[in-house]
Amino acid sequence: MKVIVKKDLCQGHAMCQYKSPELFELNEHGYNEMDPFEVPAGKEEAARRGAAACPEGAIVIVED
Ligand code: F3S
Repeated sequence: MKVIVKKDLCQGHAMCQYKSPELFELNEHGYNEMDPFEVPAGKEEAARRGAAACPEGAIVIVED
């Protein structure tokens, strides 16, 4: 499973980090500018939770 953040859509709502702080980090301005990353084994639900929480739909989950 992979996570892709559409950085241009992020408005800094921070719900991704609130729901899944183990996976999502924000920059010093509160925006998610993470590069695409592979979800570690066992963190799939956390990834889905964080993605679903984003009101801008800025986080895309790519299932294997
Ligand atoms: Fe940005 Fe969505 Fe997170 S707007 S900070 S990716 S909840």
